[in-house]
Amino acid sequence: MTRLDTICDMVPTLYIADIGSDHGFVPRTLLEKNRIKHAFVTDISPKCLDKARDNLLYHSSSVTFALGDGLEVFSPDMLSNYRPITAVITGMGGEEIKRILSRAKVEFDYYLLGAQSNIFLLIDYLNANKYEILLNKIVKEGKMFYNLLLVKHCDVVQNIDKPYLYFGEENIRTMPDDFADYVSFLLHRYEKIVKFDEKNAKNIEIYHILQNILGGKYV
Ligand SMILES: C[S@@+](CC[C@H](N)C(=O)[O-])C[C@H]1O[C@@H](n2cnc3c(N)ncnc32)[C@H](O)[C@@H]1O
Repeated sequence: MTRLDTICDMVPTLYIADIGSDHGFVPRTLLEKNRIKHAFVTDISPKCLDKARDNLLYHSSSVTFALGDGLEVFSPDMLSNYRPITAVITGMGGEEIKRILSRAKVEFDYYLLGAQSNIFLLIDYLNANKYEILLNKIVKEGKMFYNLLLVKHCDVVQNIDKPYLYFGEENIRTMPDDFADYVSFLLHRYEKIVKFDEKNAKNIEIYHILQNILGGKYV
């Protein structure tokens, strides 16, 4: 499965807002597959939004374009006819996704998040701010791994063991191929990181979780 196909499978609503759309391939694939009825397509860069406009020309009646930073371009009124709706924020760093979520004035029904870096920092933020992780998928494309999270706001902070919180209980129990490769890849990386900085408790914790996942300890 490609990253785009996996995103299509994970979107649970007929309406989306694609934040930082760039080329517009995420909404275009969703529209081509008839998975959604309408997409809000945004970017902070006018050049990128123009790219998305070109690539979505054929679907223009199903798309609303908006230039701006993160979720700040939305008001509750704008979304009132498009519920339930998923905010798709993929292809950015975890810090940037965290910043976008923390500044939002409008709540979405679901969020599909694809952090390219700082994934555990983002998950800690989500957990502390009462987001529940509904799905956690790892996709391998060539040499790249993509982490995709489907989350929604809930009433309480979820009390979940760290291995399941960071890596997803289903992944750990069923070990899909891409996930197993991801854990091995991360273990190599964290081996080096931990050797370089022996005092970073967070990195050591993740290193041990990775070792234990491969050792079958949480199954
Ligand atoms: C690597 S592309 C990701 C494209 C697409 N979302 C995907 O996953 O294939 C990152 C895009 O996010 C945009 N971007 C970065 N920060 C943003 C922000 N705070 N608000 C909106 N767009 C942003 C960039 O201009 C760029 O077009």
